[in-house]
Amino acid sequence: MTSPVSLEIAEIDLDAIAGFEGRVVLICEPDGKLSQPARRVNRLTKGALERFLGSERFSNMKEGDVIDIAYPTGMAALSLQVIKLSRRAPKSVARKAGGTIGKWKYNKDLLVIAGALKEVEDLLLGLVLRVYAFTAHLTAEEKTEGAVTAMVSKPDDVSPDAILALAEGVFFTRDLVNEPSNILTTTEFANRLQGLSDLGVEVEVLEEADLEKLGMRTLLAVGQGSASPSKVVVMQWKGGGKEAPFALVGKGVVFDTGGISLKPAAGMEDMTMDMGGAGTVSGVMKTLALRKAKANVVGLVGLVENMPDGKAQRPGDVVKSMKGDTVEVINTDAEGRLVLCDVLWYAQERFKPVGMINLATLTGAIIIGLGHEMAGVFSNNDELADAFLTAAKTEGEGAWRMPLGEGYDKLLKSSVADMKNVGGRPAGSITAAQFLKRFVKDDVPWIHLDIAGVASLKSPTDLAPKGATGWGVLALNRLIVDGYEA
Ligand code: BES
Ligand code: MN
Ligand code: ZN
Repeated sequence: MTSPVSLEIAEIDLDAIAGFEGRVVLICEPDGKLSQPARRVNRLTKGALERFLGSERFSNMKEGDVIDIAYPTGMAALSLQVIKLSRRAPKSVARKAGGTIGKWKYNKDLLVIAGALKEVEDLLLGLVLRVYAFTAHLTAEEKTEGAVTAMVSKPDDVSPDAILALAEGVFFTRDLVNEPSNILTTTEFANRLQGLSDLGVEVEVLEEADLEKLGMRTLLAVGQGSASPSKVVVMQWKGGGKEAPFALVGKGVVFDTGGISLKPAAGMEDMTMDMGGAGTVSGVMKTLALRKAKANVVGLVGLVENMPDGKAQRPGDVVKSMKGDTVEVINTDAEGRLVLCDVLWYAQERFKPVGMINLATLTGAIIIGLGHEMAGVFSNNDELADAFLTAAKTEGEGAWRMPLGEGYDKLLKSSVADMKNVGGRPAGSITAAQFLKRFVKDDVPWIHLDIAGVASLKSPTDLAPKGATGWGVLALNRLIVDGYEA
């Protein structure tokens, strides 16, 4: 498990600057005025800082940009990094600047002289998030070591625990998503979730016999070709009063070969991230527990593996969902919706949630539509959709509303069952959402988030190295903070 770097908040100690042996980051105002610690750095470096701040190079830098001065004269530091950032920089700029600091791989201590920066928590969150590295299987890799100390004008206003609660949730998601499928089996996934009980989350694992009894045939059908047993894990965080919980539901396909409708070999290895929805739900639950959220939230994940096998389901099979509706399985590669429909129905029957959001790496079509910038947002409720879009915007996580409509729903008509599991190529992400909507009660405010394009990336972002992003943990946590917490 990847832990966030250790983080200490300290008051400004001018005398500690000269002897600090790691990397020193100094935040400087865009107007080039020297703050008190900057004056100290300038004196130590015999005026080098002031020369730089007066240079064209500095004036050409954008807010959040960094320049690196190696082995600065007069300081014990390995490097002095000057970052241009106004003390009133908005959260998003501060967070991105933190990411820029965190991008440098280091294994030495880091001193961030943040001074009077207002959004210092965002700067530090960005830093901590960007330092993440998935090194579990690198035998020779030097592990990232060293602590971060932030010198700030008002240490009492900064809570490292609040920052770390967010980072640990995001890291939990990223580790799950990055983990290869021979290690993160359905059983291993459930075991890791059981670890959340140490934080006060009530965790239950429903096994195949339980799912059979509940009638979750569409979910079981997806997993029946795999040696790994299908499971549903229920995680309850009861931090609120007596009110019904908000439900989060995640697609947890630990590997998606496509099943008998086998995927092409090229790129199939990417399908190790097909449990991204379940990973995000898990990360949110961890953050809620760590920060002792005053809300009731239940997370449910459907864990299966989609494999071709003598026992696997076939194209043309007809299976009955827990709701009772029958589904003609035209394509065994459209398996996510078959998993989710049973878990969505179970979540509503058991918990009568005040609202419900499911997350899934559901369709390749959403990548064609929105690329890797935004997740698709499908909803039956404008108020909830707007609240989520606002939360996502606040946290800098891309999200874009997509339509639903009866015309799309018609494309799911089957002649042998109540519906088929695919609607053809046109509007593939929307027909997938329409399929899910059939399993959502009309009076339950609901959002489906198609995160196929954003859960894991081939190149780094401002706040994550390449691989799992942890998209959605911050936005969903924000939605709970702003709308469902006492
Ligand atoms: N897990 C995939 C969707 C996916 C694609 C996730 C690319 C991440 C990156 C999903 O189960 C799937 O195979 N969807 C099919 C649906 C089709 C058969 C209707 C697809 O998108 O091709
Ligand atoms: Mn598939
Ligand atoms: Zn899939």
